[in-house]
Amino acid sequence: MQTTLDLFDSLPPEPPRAVQIGTHAWVLKGFALPYVEQLLQALATIEAQAPFRQMITPGGFTMSVALTNCGALGWTTDRRGYRYAANDPESGQPWPAMPAVFLQLACAAAAAAGFADFVPDACLINRYVPGARLSLHQDKDEHSYDHPIVSVSLGIPAVFLFGGHTRSDKAQRIGLMHGDIVVWGGEDRLRYHGVLPLKPAEHPLLGARRINFTFRKAG
Ligand code: SIN
Ligand code: FE2
Repeated sequence: MQTTLDLFDSLPPEPPRAVQIGTHAWVLKGFALPYVEQLLQALATIEAQAPFRQMITPGGFTMSVALTNCGALGWTTDRRGYRYAANDPESGQPWPAMPAVFLQLACAAAAAAGFADFVPDACLINRYVPGARLSLHQDKDEHSYDHPIVSVSLGIPAVFLFGGHTRSDKAQRIGLMHGDIVVWGGEDRLRYHGVLPLKPAEHPLLGARRINFTFRKAG
Protein backbone atom coordinates (compact mmCIF):
# COMPACT_ATOMS: atom_id res chain seq x y z
CA MET A 1 0.00 0.00 0.00
CA GLN A 2 1.28 3.43 -0.86
CA THR A 3 1.11 5.73 2.18
CA THR A 4 0.98 9.52 2.10
CA LEU A 5 4.61 9.52 3.16
CA ASP A 6 5.62 7.44 0.12
CA LEU A 7 3.74 9.84 -2.10
CA PHE A 8 5.63 12.79 -0.63
CA ASP A 9 8.91 10.92 -1.06
CA SER A 10 8.21 10.26 -4.72
CA LEU A 11 7.67 13.93 -5.56
CA PRO A 12 10.77 15.57 -7.02
CA PRO A 13 12.25 17.93 -4.39
CA GLU A 14 11.51 21.57 -5.19
CA PRO A 15 14.58 23.75 -5.43
CA PRO A 16 14.64 26.32 -2.61
CA ARG A 17 13.41 29.75 -3.65
CA ALA A 18 13.46 33.09 -1.92
CA VAL A 19 10.40 35.33 -2.13
CA GLN A 20 10.84 38.94 -1.06
CA ILE A 21 7.98 40.25 1.12
CA GLY A 22 9.58 43.47 2.36
CA THR A 23 12.75 45.53 1.95
CA HIS A 24 14.45 43.31 4.51
CA ALA A 25 11.97 40.45 4.68
CA TRP A 26 12.03 37.12 2.84
CA VAL A 27 10.26 33.79 2.68
CA LEU A 28 12.79 31.03 2.02
CA LYS A 29 10.67 28.26 0.52
CA GLY A 30 11.71 24.77 1.62
CA PHE A 31 14.92 26.03 3.21
CA ALA A 32 14.53 23.87 6.34
CA LEU A 33 13.71 20.62 4.50
CA PRO A 34 17.22 19.12 4.68
CA TYR A 35 17.22 19.74 8.45
CA VAL A 36 13.81 18.28 9.35
CA GLU A 37 14.89 14.92 10.68
CA GLN A 38 17.51 16.43 12.97
CA LEU A 39 15.16 19.21 14.08
CA LEU A 40 12.45 16.74 15.09
CA GLN A 41 14.91 14.51 16.91
CA ALA A 42 16.22 17.46 18.90
CA LEU A 43 12.67 18.66 19.55
CA ALA A 44 11.78 15.33 21.18
CA THR A 45 14.61 15.84 23.69
CA ILE A 46 13.56 19.44 24.37
CA GLU A 47 9.91 18.45 24.87
CA ALA A 48 10.87 15.74 27.36
CA GLN A 49 12.61 18.38 29.51
CA ALA A 50 10.29 21.32 28.90
CA PRO A 51 6.85 20.14 27.71
CA PHE A 52 4.58 22.30 25.55
CA ARG A 53 2.05 24.25 27.61
CA GLN A 54 -0.63 26.85 26.94
CA MET A 55 0.29 30.10 28.66
CA ILE A 56 -1.95 32.94 29.89
CA THR A 57 -1.75 36.41 28.36
CA PRO A 58 -1.56 39.51 30.58
CA GLY A 59 -5.22 40.08 29.63
CA GLY A 60 -6.15 36.71 31.17
CA PHE A 61 -6.71 34.69 27.98
CA THR A 62 -5.29 31.21 27.47
CA MET A 63 -3.27 31.14 24.25
CA SER A 64 -4.56 28.66 21.65
CA VAL A 65 -0.93 27.97 20.71
CA ALA A 66 1.09 25.79 23.11
CA LEU A 67 4.73 26.74 23.56
CA THR A 68 8.10 25.78 24.95
CA ASN A 69 11.60 27.20 24.48
CA CYS A 70 15.23 26.32 24.12
CA GLY A 71 18.32 28.48 24.41
CA ALA A 72 19.69 30.80 27.09
CA LEU A 73 16.45 32.78 27.17
CA GLY A 74 12.84 31.71 26.73
CA TRP A 75 9.81 33.84 25.95
CA THR A 76 7.00 33.56 28.48
CA THR A 77 3.71 35.22 29.30
CA ASP A 78 1.53 35.33 32.41
CA ARG A 79 -0.79 37.77 34.17
CA ARG A 80 2.19 40.00 34.95
CA GLY A 81 3.25 40.45 31.30
CA TYR A 82 5.46 39.18 28.50
CA ARG A 83 9.14 38.64 29.19
CA TYR A 84 12.22 36.55 28.52
CA ALA A 85 13.44 34.32 31.33
CA ALA A 86 16.44 32.01 31.72
CA ASN A 87 14.35 29.41 33.56
CA ASP A 88 11.22 27.49 32.67
CA PRO A 89 8.59 28.84 35.11
CA GLU A 90 7.01 25.37 35.31
CA SER A 91 10.12 23.46 36.43
CA GLY A 92 12.32 26.28 37.73
CA GLN A 93 15.12 24.77 35.61
CA PRO A 94 17.03 26.52 32.79
CA TRP A 95 15.42 26.05 29.37
CA PRO A 96 17.04 23.21 27.39
CA ALA A 97 20.18 24.31 25.54
CA MET A 98 19.81 25.30 21.90
CA PRO A 99 20.80 22.25 19.79
CA ALA A 100 23.65 22.85 17.34
CA VAL A 101 21.40 22.04 14.36
CA PHE A 102 18.96 24.78 15.42
CA LEU A 103 21.78 27.34 15.52
CA GLN A 104 23.15 26.19 12.17
CA LEU A 105 19.79 26.46 10.46
CA ALA A 106 18.92 29.87 11.97
CA CYS A 107 22.31 31.25 11.06
CA ALA A 108 22.20 29.89 7.49
CA ALA A 109 18.66 31.23 6.91
CA ALA A 110 19.55 34.68 8.28
CA ALA A 111 22.64 34.79 6.03
CA ALA A 112 20.55 33.75 2.99
CA ALA A 113 18.26 36.72 3.72
CA GLY A 114 21.20 39.14 3.98
CA PHE A 115 21.78 39.10 7.74
CA ALA A 116 25.32 37.88 8.36
CA ASP A 117 26.48 36.81 11.81
CA PHE A 118 23.07 36.19 13.39
CA VAL A 119 23.58 34.34 16.67
CA PRO A 120 20.22 33.72 18.37
CA ASP A 121 20.08 33.17 22.14
CA ALA A 122 16.37 32.32 22.21
CA CYS A 123 14.20 29.86 20.33
CA LEU A 124 10.48 30.00 21.01
CA ILE A 125 8.77 26.80 19.88
CA ASN A 126 5.07 27.15 19.07
CA ARG A 127 2.73 24.21 18.51
CA TYR A 128 -0.53 24.79 16.64
CA VAL A 129 -3.45 22.41 16.22
CA PRO A 130 -6.29 23.12 13.76
CA GLY A 131 -8.17 26.19 14.98
CA ALA A 132 -5.16 27.64 16.84
CA ARG A 133 -4.14 31.14 15.81
CA LEU A 134 -1.84 33.98 16.73
CA SER A 135 -3.27 37.48 16.61
CA LEU A 136 -1.37 40.36 15.02
CA HIS A 137 1.53 41.48 17.21
CA GLN A 138 5.00 42.99 17.04
CA ASP A 139 8.04 41.15 18.42
CA LYS A 140 9.30 43.84 20.78
CA ASP A 141 10.29 42.13 24.02
CA GLU A 142 13.90 41.83 22.82
CA HIS A 143 16.70 44.00 24.18
CA SER A 144 17.64 45.33 20.74
CA TYR A 145 15.90 45.36 17.37
CA ASP A 146 19.20 45.23 15.46
CA HIS A 147 18.84 41.50 14.85
CA PRO A 148 16.40 39.73 12.54
CA ILE A 149 13.65 37.25 13.41
CA VAL A 150 14.02 33.80 11.84
CA SER A 151 10.79 31.79 11.85
CA VAL A 152 10.74 28.14 10.72
CA SER A 153 7.51 26.30 9.82
CA LEU A 154 7.00 22.53 10.02
CA GLY A 155 3.90 20.38 9.70
CA ILE A 156 0.48 21.42 8.44
CA PRO A 157 0.16 24.63 6.38
CA ALA A 158 -0.62 28.04 7.84
CA VAL A 159 -1.50 31.46 6.51
CA PHE A 160 1.00 33.97 7.89
CA LEU A 161 -0.13 37.58 8.12
CA PHE A 162 2.62 40.09 7.44
CA GLY A 163 1.38 43.60 8.16
CA GLY A 164 2.89 47.03 8.48
CA HIS A 165 4.06 49.20 11.33
CA THR A 166 0.58 49.88 12.68
CA ARG A 167 -1.94 47.23 13.61
CA SER A 168 -4.50 48.54 11.12
CA ASP A 169 -2.14 48.37 8.09
CA LYS A 170 -3.35 45.83 5.57
CA ALA A 171 -1.49 42.55 6.00
CA GLN A 172 -0.12 40.34 3.23
CA ARG A 173 -1.39 36.74 3.47
CA ILE A 174 1.44 34.31 2.95
CA GLY A 175 0.97 30.54 2.75
CA LEU A 176 3.61 28.74 4.78
CA MET A 177 4.33 25.07 4.18
CA HIS A 178 6.46 22.47 5.92
CA GLY A 179 10.09 23.59 5.61
CA ASP A 180 9.48 27.25 4.83
CA ILE A 181 11.35 29.98 6.72
CA VAL A 182 10.41 33.65 7.10
CA VAL A 183 13.18 36.12 7.95
CA TRP A 184 12.51 39.77 8.74
CA GLY A 185 14.82 42.46 10.09
CA GLY A 186 16.17 45.93 9.41
CA GLU A 187 13.37 48.35 8.64
CA ASP A 188 10.89 45.44 8.65
CA ARG A 189 11.88 44.20 12.11
CA LEU A 190 8.89 45.67 13.95
CA ARG A 191 6.19 44.84 11.42
CA TYR A 192 2.97 43.38 12.78
CA HIS A 193 2.49 39.70 12.04
CA GLY A 194 0.29 36.79 13.05
CA VAL A 195 -1.19 33.48 11.96
CA LEU A 196 -4.78 32.83 10.84
CA PRO A 197 -6.68 29.96 12.51
CA LEU A 198 -5.24 26.75 11.10
CA LYS A 199 -7.46 24.66 8.85
CA PRO A 200 -7.85 20.95 9.69
CA ALA A 201 -5.08 19.01 7.93
CA GLU A 202 -2.75 16.07 8.43
CA HIS A 203 0.95 16.10 7.80
CA PRO A 204 2.71 12.78 7.13
CA LEU A 205 5.39 13.45 9.77
CA LEU A 206 3.60 15.66 12.29
CA GLY A 207 -0.06 14.67 12.07
CA ALA A 208 -2.59 17.44 12.70
CA ARG A 209 0.05 19.83 14.04
CA ARG A 210 2.17 22.75 13.01
CA ILE A 211 5.46 23.47 14.76
CA ASN A 212 7.06 26.89 14.48
CA PHE A 213 10.56 27.74 15.71
CA THR A 214 11.11 31.46 16.18
CA PHE A 215 14.78 32.38 16.62
CA ARG A 216 15.72 35.69 18.17
CA LYS A 217 18.63 37.48 19.75
CA ALA A 218 16.74 38.52 22.86
CA GLY A 219 19.38 39.45 25.46
C1 SIN B 1 5.38 34.20 16.12
O1 SIN B 1 5.13 35.29 15.64
O2 SIN B 1 5.85 34.08 17.27
C2 SIN B 1 5.14 32.90 15.38
C3 SIN B 1 4.76 33.03 13.95
C4 SIN B 1 4.44 31.69 13.33
O3 SIN B 1 3.98 30.77 14.03
O4 SIN B 1 4.61 31.54 12.11
FE1 FE2 C 1 5.97 37.08 16.53
